Amino acid sequence: MRVSRRTLLTAFLALPLMPAARTRSFAQASPALPLTLECRDADDLTPEREAGPFFKPNSPRNRELHADVLGGERITVAGFVLDTHCRPLAGSLVEIWHADESGAYDNAGFRLRGHQFTGAQGRWWFNTIVPALYPGRTRHFHFKVQRPGGPILTTQLFFPGEPGNAGDRLFHETLLLDMKQTGDGRFGRFDFVV
Ligand SMILES: [Fe+2]
Repeated sequence: MRVSRRTLLTAFLALPLMPAARTRSFAQASPALPLTLECRDADDLTPEREAGPFFKPNSPRNRELHADVLGGERITVAGFVLDTHCRPLAGSLVEIWHADESGAYDNAGFRLRGHQFTGAQGRWWFNTIVPALYPGRTRHFHFKVQRPGGPILTTQLFFPGEPGNAGDRLFHETLLLDMKQTGDGRFGRFDFVV
């Protein structure tokens, strides 16, 4: 039986913060939960990507975005906000917006839009759905990330194995979610470096 999204999220939330030794320690501690936690090289900032035409300010502070969505495959997306020395950045804004189960954005309301602030250990997560494809783009989430007092990073995260990735002008492999299939949807990991 596959693990659930909740199990993986709980494991993620229990990840110890031990910079430089985290990947190995977690792999050894939980071989059944292959959540990688990479410590990137300094200066390896998360690349920027354009916001596109569907960003809307003033999204609700909410990480449970699928409550009002009937269709679509469930997904939990989670990660850390880190600085270039792999130190977690508490109090960072993480905002998401994405297409719904039919490939449309809610431009009238705030369906599938939300933001949160990282806790003391720099963690963020959203429970939402896998966005459907819409013409001209591969599958993606939109994000804005801002450390306290810092500039806003606007970027997009992508799904591994998507046929449209290779032909998408905004796709970059460094923006791929680390994706696991679970018993009740997917679990995607990404650590922002700002
Ligand atoms: Fe988009």
